[in-house]
Amino acid sequence: MASNSAAWLHKASTPLEVGEAPMPTAGPNELVIRNAAIAINPLDCHMQAAGVFVQQWPSVFGCDVAGEVHEVGSEVHERFKVGDRVIGHAINLTTGRPQDGAFALYTVVPADKAAILPASIPFTDGVVLPLALEAAVCALSVKQPGTALPNVPTPALGLPYPSLTKPTPSAGKSKTLVVYGGSSSVGSMTTQLATAAGVRVIAVASARNFDLCRACGAAAVFDYHDPGFVDEVIGAATAAGGEFVGVFDAISTPETYAHSLAMLAKLGGGHLACVHPPPPAEDVPANVQAGMIFAVDDVATPVWRDYVTPALREGKLKCLPPPLVVGKGLEYIQEALEKCEAGVSATKLVVEI
Ligand SMILES: NC(=O)c1ccc[n+]([C@@H]2O[C@H](COP(=O)([O-])OP(=O)(O)OC[C@H]3O[C@@H](n4cnc5c(N)ncnc54)[C@H](OP(=O)(O)O)[C@@H]3O)[C@@H](O)[C@H]2O)c1
Repeated sequence: MASNSAAWLHKASTPLEVGEAPMPTAGPNELVIRNAAIAINPLDCHMQAAGVFVQQWPSVFGCDVAGEVHEVGSEVHERFKVGDRVIGHAINLTTGRPQDGAFALYTVVPADKAAILPASIPFTDGVVLPLALEAAVCALSVKQPGTALPNVPTPALGLPYPSLTKPTPSAGKSKTLVVYGGSSSVGSMTTQLATAAGVRVIAVASARNFDLCRACGAAAVFDYHDPGFVDEVIGAATAAGGEFVGVFDAISTPETYAHSLAMLAKLGGGHLACVHPPPPAEDVPANVQAGMIFAVDDVATPVWRDYVTPALREGKLKCLPPPLVVGKGLEYIQEALEKCEAGVSATKLVVEI
């Protein structure tokens, strides 16, 4: 009989404590995954430091898991079976339930936020994908603005889903999107999915990470340390022709907002999709539609169901940025959170379980 343990948060701003946890069971549309690897996201650091979004104490949180299916819900037998290798997006963020947190031996994941991981891809690679993938779909493909937080709309770029038969961009006709923070997890995944939908991406990152941005499909990359980079981005977007869609600001600080708004001002306006609440309304011109993504959304279901597995198998979806494995065992999650808080460059912190 399997038993479970988890890395529990008993109080905000205290270290996680590894201890026993109830063995979860799968609801009709859920999977229980025996985790082989989990990944760390900046959200996890905010949850630990301030207790934001924690709905139940003690809490087990964390979003990204990869492992083997331990139990299959009654409604999802056609897609998954016990023993399948999968990746999944755990949604404690919205449910608050400890069994929906990634930082455990066993985690419940909605079947619509999971996909088979091809045998050739290690769990420690596949686990970099789930939250970033869902965030990227939310940035690109929401059609009507929803609500990210009270009084904060989501962006609604309405771009197509990624396709296995990527449309060939015709000169001067494709849409152009700026991905600001192109080497971040969410930014690099947005570049991958946008490119696979036929959108031309101009990325902004440190020069040392240009190759990563290009590997994700960016047509051009500019270094935000270069004082002239805003003008260079504007020049590249203008030269591309076609329709300028807007900026996905995967960093979303006052500094990046000032640059993103300067680009939008020169390029005729468009969408400003943010990962945190957008700039104050008085700073946003009427021709800019600003919103904040909320990366738990059914808009991602078709991508999880139809795209992820074949795209991974065919090498069209890459497990980027690459993982940095911090250690093996739930005890290493605390160390990984501290490394994440200190900041990473073009990597995803991963713990083997
Ligand atoms: N609202 C939501 O639903 C949601 C979902 C997921 C994430 N988020 C938020 O999105 C943000 C990104 O998350 P993540 O996991 O993708 O982060 P991450 O991978 O940890 O971000 C690290 C990257 O940020 C880049 N960066 C830092 N400052 C920059 C700047 N001024 N300009 C350009 N790039 C800069 C670095 O680029 P270089 O090393 O190249 O300099 C580095 O590669 C976080 O704040 C997170 O909380 C929100």
